[in-house]
Amino acid sequence: MNAPISIARVDEIAEGKGKAFDVGEKRIAIFQVDGQLHAIDDACPHAGASLAEGYLEDGNVGCPWHYAEFELATGKHRHSPATCGVNVYPVTITDGQIHVEVA
Ligand code: FES
Repeated sequence: MNAPISIARVDEIAEGKGKAFDVGEKRIAIFQVDGQLHAIDDACPHAGASLAEGYLEDGNVGCPWHYAEFELATGKHRHSPATCGVNVYPVTITDGQIHVEVA
């Protein structure tokens, strides 16, 4: 298990929005929905769009390019044209700082 990595302050992620960060060799999208933070791979597995730029709806993020959808809590794909999901990463908050555990 890898140690959680500090990547941003909670107040950098607006409610109902996403933002992407480089974490080691990965690019991770962080979303805040109903006060809950979610961390998933930023790159859409269909053709690589930034999911941080996508739309949020009913606990899912929709890809801004071709509208594949992924469940924020599990990374499972909900909608074509993607045929697989994305990785999700555990998020913890300490003193207003977001930490993500990237395996
Ligand atoms: S790049 Fe995301 S659906 Fe095509």
